Amino acid sequence: MILVAGGSGRLGTLIVRRLAARSLCVRVLTRDRKRTAHLEPDGVEVIEGDVRERSSVDGAMVGVSTVVSAIHGFGDIGHVSPASVDRDGNRNLVTAAAAAKATVVLMSIVGASAEHPLDLFRMKYAAEQHLRASGTPWTIVRATAFAEFWLDLLDQTAGPSGRPVIFGRGINPINFVSVSDVAALVERVVVDSSARGETFEIGGPKNVSFNELAASLQRAAGRTAPPRHIPRPMLRLLAAVLGPVWPNRARQMRAAIAMDTLDLTFASTSLHRRFPELPETSLADILAHR
Ligand SMILES: NC(=O)c1ccc[n+]([C@@H]2O[C@H](COP(=O)([O-])OP(=O)(O)OC[C@H]3O[C@@H](n4cnc5c(N)ncnc54)[C@H](OP(=O)(O)O)[C@@H]3O)[C@@H](O)[C@H]2O)c1
Repeated sequence: MILVAGGSGRLGTLIVRRLAARSLCVRVLTRDRKRTAHLEPDGVEVIEGDVRERSSVDGAMVGVSTVVSAIHGFGDIGHVSPASVDRDGNRNLVTAAAAAKATVVLMSIVGASAEHPLDLFRMKYAAEQHLRASGTPWTIVRATAFAEFWLDLLDQTAGPSGRPVIFGRGINPINFVSVSDVAALVERVVVDSSARGETFEIGGPKNVSFNELAASLQRAAGRTAPPRHIPRPMLRLLAAVLGPVWPNRARQMRAAIAMDTLDLTFASTSLHRRFPELPETSLADILAHR
């Protein structure tokens, strides 16, 4: 049995479908089974639980030989945070998996480190370190930003004006990867035991700025209107004002500033030499198939 924590999410859904298509037994851990309704045709088991509670993680682990963690605490649902989900929730998953002698495949993020200015990256690193020290077989997959997520966000913010919102100047080059390429890698390392004890980094074929991403989206959508920009000082003000009342929204503002200022480029690695069958989807192809 393969337990996919985060199987209801954007990446998790694709992982679950790929594993189920191989006729592997899959169990999805979710806080609310309604969020897995779209997976019904895939015939997977669903168990309700919260990774922040050790007891619900233990309950989900019965009969499990592999755990895939595709969770994060950066969202708006249920007072989560990177500390409570990415660090502590993953700690619960890893500890329970180690007790069950199960393999863990952990989703992390390119650039995760103990010193990173964003707590998400620090908490992912803490989870990686806990996993490496756990004694249970492991594989870590670090990905760059998911192109589909950011294209959807640009599309949503375009609204009736047809002008997508860009946080900051939008000139910083960033690596965006197709979430389906990441799912293909996760599927591969789940079924390939030679990938244990290794950390794989996956990114897209090109680094592009938000201005370029938005321009590509506009062309694909047949729109000509220029994007709107939220200036960096406004993002800083929002982060400061929202911090005490709406910490997740403040965190998103800090992440927006980071995406406008930090080096988020990625140079392709040896990944495709190791796994030549893995897709490397271009932005044009992502846009063509949305
Ligand atoms: N998005 C990106 O650009 C990006 C880039 C690099 C790496 N990643 C990593 O890739 C993975 C998937 O990201 P995504 O964007 O596809 O995620 P997503 O669609 O936002 O889904 C997040 C998932 O986390 C689960 N989750 C959150 N808190 C939970 C809790 N307390 N207990 C149990 N489950 C919980 C949610 O499950 P329920 O709501 O059903 O409970 C949901 O399935 C994450 O590990 C993320 O850090 C993402």
